[in-house]
Amino acid sequence: MDQFVTLQMIDAATAVVRERIDIKPKVGLILGSGLGGLAEAVFNPKIIAYQEIPHWPVPTIQGHAGRLVAGHLFGMPTLVMQGRVHFYEGYPMDQVTFPIRVMQRLGVQLIILTNAAGAINPEFMPGDVMLITDHIALIGMAGVNPLRGPNLDAFGERFPDMSQVYTRKMQAIARSAAEKKQIAVREGVYVCLSGPSFESPADLRFLQTIGADAVGMSTVPEAIVARHGRTQVLGLSGISNKANLDGSTETTHEEVLMAGEVIVPKLTGIIQGVLESPDLDL
Ligand code: HPA
Repeated sequence: MDQFVTLQMIDAATAVVRERIDIKPKVGLILGSGLGGLAEAVFNPKIIAYQEIPHWPVPTIQGHAGRLVAGHLFGMPTLVMQGRVHFYEGYPMDQVTFPIRVMQRLGVQLIILTNAAGAINPEFMPGDVMLITDHIALIGMAGVNPLRGPNLDAFGERFPDMSQVYTRKMQAIARSAAEKKQIAVREGVYVCLSGPSFESPADLRFLQTIGADAVGMSTVPEAIVARHGRTQVLGLSGISNKANLDGSTETTHEEVLMAGEVIVPKLTGIIQGVLESPDLDL
């Protein structure tokens, strides 16, 4: 059998993080490509480089700083991940999702997942924010599921339910936060592919046919592991580019990073509204 992440590895990392921070985090926030600026809103931050935490996966690409920032975010004790790793970098899925396990051991009740994504829905434009209402675990269904391997019983059951990964309640809180701040949000289904190559026009027409509104290379594995451990999930995609359904334009990593500048203020507003919401019960 393959080697998988163990509870001992998770607890070794958890002990180091716990030692270095002075909050008891209730919320975990993962910042996607080009979205790292949101960590600046953290009050009284304690910063840990991923390299300093045992077994913690370290990003290899531009736009992902690789730091854990712990402090109060809009009054809520929060652990912010400035950068994440992806499957395409070469990490197995249980390592990609390792930080979620550590957050769960630290007592985090809500994980906010953000990402940069390509728009498949023709109405979406670069700079838009999309509330994730559901996902298509395309590579998970094809065998690359983060829960593959011995079940970690300390977190959840072997066959976990995924009927409301992005709970209706969290969606409603985010929707009303955006409305109050007059930030326009799209809503839709996110599909996760392996990458690192972007999609061909035929790939994109296939993804449109199966019901995806936005496409990216992250978030879904983390959301599955969060739900396995009964942690609430809120998912927000920053639309960085229009997916190229007819093959007439090219997609680049630079445009993905640039769109982040427009998206960060919108995401900050929505996340502030969520964390300050009286309906949030953590
Ligand atoms: N495709 C896949 N992943 C992405 C894209 C895209 O167009 N944009 C940002 N991440």
